[in-house]
Order: sequence, then C-alpha cells, then structure tokens
Amino acid sequence: MPSTIREAGAGDWPRIWPIVQDVVTEQQTFPYDPAMTESEARQQWLVPAPARVAVAVDGDRVLGTANRYPNRPGPGSHVASGSLMVARDARGSGVGRAFEVDLVGWARRTGFAAIQFNAVVETNAPAIRLYESLGFVTLGVAPEAFRHPVEGRVGLRIMWLEL
Ligand SMILES: CC(C)(COP(=O)(O)OP(=O)(O)OC[C@H]1O[C@@H](n2cnc3c(N)ncnc32)[C@H](O)[C@@H]1OP(=O)(O)O)[C@@H](O)C(=O)NCCC(=O)NCCS
Repeated sequence: MPSTIREAGAGDWPRIWPIVQDVVTEQQTFPYDPAMTESEARQQWLVPAPARVAVAVDGDRVLGTANRYPNRPGPGSHVASGSLMVARDARGSGVGRAFEVDLVGWARRTGFAAIQFNAVVETNAPAIRLYESLGFVTLGVAPEAFRHPVEGRVGLRIMWLEL
C-alpha cells in the first residue's frame, strides 16, 4: 500500500478519530477508556510539542497514526515513548513498520538514550513481533494487568530499545 508518513495537522483529526475510536472501543490493545469522547481522545492523542504526532497517508486517506514523546518528564525525559494505530483495513501492508522505523530514527536524531513502551498487551502478537524485529526486548510483564474482552486477564509487557 503506497503511503507517506508526515506530521499530523489539526485538520487531520476527523480522519484520525475513526481509527482511534475503533482501536479503543475494541479494548484489545490499548488500556484507554472505551467510553472516551471524541474531544477526550483528541486531547490524549494530539500531544503538544515537543511531542509529535504523525499520520501515514495515501492521497487523502489516513491509514494510521502514531505519536511520540518523552516517556517521563524531568529526570526521565531522556527516554522516548510512543503509541501507534493502523486502520484495520490497512494492516499487514508495512504501515506499522514504517511508523516504528520513523520513531527509532526520530528518537536517535533527537538524542534519546532509549525507547520504552510501557504497556504492550501480551496477546498483541503483531505489535510484539514488530517491536522485537526492530530490536526491542521485554524487560518484564505486569501479570494480568489488562482485561482482554476475549482472553480474560492478560499481562502487560514493558518493552525497551537501547539506542
Ligand atoms: C500492531 C499494528 C500497529 C501493526 O501495524 P501493521 O501496519 O499491520 O504492521 P506491518 O504491516 O508494518 O507489519 C510489521 C510487522 O508486524 C508483524 N505483524 C503484522 N501483522 C501481523 C499478524 N497478523 N500476525 C503476526 N505478526 C504480524 C510482522 O512481524 C510484520 O513484519 P513484516 O514487515 O516482516 O511482515 C496494527 O496491527 C495495529 O494498529 N493494531 C491495533 C493497535 C495496536 O495494537 N497498536 C500497538 C499497541 S502496542
């Protein structure tokens, strides 16, 4: 699927929201409130600078979105983090990998020492395979920390890439 990654603008939100809404209401991959309103989701996803929000586009269509930010403020701000969602019908075509390669490049250029994902759902095989293929390792698992609608309580991994 031909796609370009670029910075998201405020005008992209109407095409980002259906992707976020689908992922959040499904409750299989993100520990977000499934009842969150559009304006709450907008505030949470469109993180302010120096954090960044990206979209993958094919012409006018938004195929996916990712954001990236320091994992913690102050003394924790040398470690980056981020979140990623690809539209259901655009998955499996390289969009997620392109976002993650972009994230790693941005984090290196910006001078971050590492990237940490704080809550990767243990049953999310596509995400875990993608992150491991880029060199991320699992530091630990918070057992049964996520209520999966099909699998019941499953673990949340902390994943880490040393830069
Ligand atoms: C996880 C997600 C972002 C992957 O995006 P994607 O665009 O489908 O991923 P890609 O097509 O770039 O595939 C990248 C890698 O992911 C893995 N992968 C993708 N789909 C997979 C599947 N169905 N089963 C197992 N591994 C899979 C493969 O390792 C693949 O590597 P390849 O490039 O060698 O094929 C996407 O499934 C998604 O948005 N899921 C819902 C939200 C989510 O889980 N976000 C991450 C939270 S931690």
